[in-house]
Amino acid sequence: MAATSVVVLDRGNNTTCTINLHGATVVSWRVNNQEQLFVSKQAKFDGKEPIRGGIPFVFPQFGPWPFGPQHGFARITRWNLEKAPERLQSGDVEAIFSLMDSDFSRSSWNYQFRLTYRLILREKELHFNIAVYNPSKELTFSFNMLLHTYFKVPDVRRCQITGLQGCTFVDKTRDGSIYQEARDVVTINEWTDRIYQNTSQEHIITNVVSGRKMRIQKYNFPDTVVWNPWLDRAKDMSDFGDDEYPNMVCVESGHVSSPVILLPENQKEAFFDKNTCEPELIDALKD
Ligand code: BG6
Repeated sequence: MAATSVVVLDRGNNTTCTINLHGATVVSWRVNNQEQLFVSKQAKFDGKEPIRGGIPFVFPQFGPWPFGPQHGFARITRWNLEKAPERLQSGDVEAIFSLMDSDFSRSSWNYQFRLTYRLILREKELHFNIAVYNPSKELTFSFNMLLHTYFKVPDVRRCQITGLQGCTFVDKTRDGSIYQEARDVVTINEWTDRIYQNTSQEHIITNVVSGRKMRIQKYNFPDTVVWNPWLDRAKDMSDFGDDEYPNMVCVESGHVSSPVILLPENQKEAFFDKNTCEPELIDALKD
């Protein structure tokens, strides 16, 4: 019988977070019984394909890669459960996942490494703490990392995203030239695929579930990718419903415009600490 592949953090009060060990992909985050993340109805859970939705973990490459799969191998590898969900004194619930090099990872990226991914589920916040270790005595490696977060929204056309004004960005829907964002809030009305550089530490997305706001805080992640495939590209994806694009927006925190460089026997522990997503205070009575 296959070992269980799903880990659930349960904080009580219908606040839970579910992680699929395939990619250590967060596949659900419910706050007061309200789902915050989008997962496509067509998502595949075959232990091979990346899971379309939730929070896939992008490492060590962002985007197309001549040596291996798009967005790297971490999102398509089974992670270890390093520490099963445990309630902390604060009442929050923590679990730790880890990934080490394997024959599979070394076939595209021939380095030893160790990743730990610590998730803490708070009453109204999901907290991510990521550490990367280079155990080699001689080799330096460099990598990209990104939390490819799919937020669930009632209608993406009504969302506004703050924290991008004045930032340079690469527009992947155009020629890859660099532009500068003039708008104080970014809205989405068409196919959007932008890598914003040196963005604010905080983004607010308006009109997420129940018309509320979502606050993203990021540390040591200089970049923010904003993506929505819109209708035509949705049709091209076999694991994404044609009519689902209005119900999601990816606002992804990462280190992708430039690589992170890690020297031999070096650990960027707690390097990507204190990354959080936090929905506006949810008052069940108002729903
Ligand atoms: C985004 C990229 O982060 O991910 C897009 O900027 C890409 O270019 C999207 O299309 C989805 O990627 P994938 O590999 O999950 O289909």
